[in-house]
Amino acid sequence: MSSSREDIKIFNKDNVSELINDGYLFDSLVTFEQEHFTWPWKKESWECFLESNRDFSLALMFGADGVVGFCLFELFILDMQCHLYKIVVSPQVRGQGVSVNLFDKHLAELKGLGVSEIYLEVEASNERAMVFYEKYGLARGVIKKRFYQDGSNAIVMTGSF
Ligand SMILES: CC(C)(COP(=O)(O)OP(=O)(O)OC[C@H]1O[C@@H](n2cnc3c(N)ncnc32)[C@H](O)[C@@H]1OP(=O)(O)O)[C@@H](O)C(=O)NCCC(=O)NCCS
Repeated sequence: MSSSREDIKIFNKDNVSELINDGYLFDSLVTFEQEHFTWPWKKESWECFLESNRDFSLALMFGADGVVGFCLFELFILDMQCHLYKIVVSPQVRGQGVSVNLFDKHLAELKGLGVSEIYLEVEASNERAMVFYEKYGLARGVIKKRFYQDGSNAIVMTGSF
């Protein structure tokens, strides 16, 4: 599949009401995450985060049948930093450049906001995700023990873009 077939829409504090008020779209995001991510947020947690004072950037990617991926960052513009919370693409489109397209476009948007440093936590067993991040020059750093609800460890990865 060509990655150019997907559309991306980016939400932030200024336009997130479009997402929250569109019940179908919001439910699609919540359901997509529940189906494809190990540690999904409940709908209430999404609402709580998106309606908080936090500065964030959420990129939603759409294919012919709806949401095929998303990427969520918290932003710390004054520090030129962002914290990647989640990136998830549908299993049907993994390994096809779709995730690269999503991440590239989202990082370009953040770069335009003056952000150039990234950090994230990733489950220590999630080798595929770590290899994905390494393609962007991120390096594996310290381990956060028992970071996840099931007691598994996270690895912190950091880098510049
Ligand atoms: C993380 C994620 C977005 C990456 O997207 P993707 O389409 O799978 O990524 P890619 O296939 O482009 O890149 C992954 C790399 O890992 C490699 N890889 C594939 N399976 C692997 C495995 N089991 N172990 C190690 N590396 C693996 C691929 O070959 C590729 O490297 P290459 O481009 O040099 O060949 C996607 O896998 C995903 O949604 N995973 C579930 C959610 C998740 O874990 N998110 C990250 C935590 S927040």
